Amino acid sequence: MKVLLLNGSPRKEGNTSMALGQVAEILEAEGIETVNMWIGNEPVRGCIGCGACAQKGRCVFHDSLYEEILAVLDAGVDALVVGTPVYFAGPNGSLCAILDRIFYSAGDRLAWKPAAGISVCRRGGASASFDRLNKYFAINNMPIAGSQYWTIAYGRAPGEVASDGEGMQTLRAMARNLAWMMRTAATEQHPAAEEPRQRTNFVR
Ligand SMILES: Cc1cc2nc3c(=O)[nH]c(=O)nc-3n(C[C@H](O)[C@H](O)[C@H](O)COP(=O)(O)O)c2cc1C
Repeated sequence: MKVLLLNGSPRKEGNTSMALGQVAEILEAEGIETVNMWIGNEPVRGCIGCGACAQKGRCVFHDSLYEEILAVLDAGVDALVVGTPVYFAGPNGSLCAILDRIFYSAGDRLAWKPAAGISVCRRGGASASFDRLNKYFAINNMPIAGSQYWTIAYGRAPGEVASDGEGMQTLRAMARNLAWMMRTAATEQHPAAEEPRQRTNFVR
């Protein structure tokens, strides 16, 4: 079994990386392979709402970040963990840009796969950012791995998050729950969509 760990911080070796590393340690001890991907620090194109992906099954833009993530998803992953630094009480904008495109164009590759979001901040906005990440999973039939607290951790300068004992423990507990959910998902058939999809816009 394999998990994609997506580091949404432009700081490659920062606190988000460290938080994901804590999760990876537990997953690997549980015999689960981890694939690390990094958002990078180049501009990331956002979704333009052209809708072409509905026919193509992929985004019209071919930037390397999108291609690399899509290739990993197409090769097959059993779960997804996304980590983000908190920027102005939300996830990093580049991360939202790529997640918008990935979930809009290729969300089918992730449906029914367990997922978790992690947010890391200095002081405020962790829970709003955590909520925002969970929105991607919850709209895509993805069971979300919980923990003994929301999966948030505190630190500013790279490495500081390691001193957040409760935050780190919360991440370890989530990783164990995720591993358990993955094992369950691997043996249980997921509930197939039984009804034709309704797309009723919000109207009077
Ligand atoms: C542009 C920017 C905005 C930030 N906004 C917040 C914020 O709203 N709340 C907060 O607590 N920390 C904020 N921070 C601090 C980061 O969330 C914090 O340093 C975090 O540990 C960075 O994670 P990283 O090391 O993985 O990049 C901000 C940092 C930057 C660069």
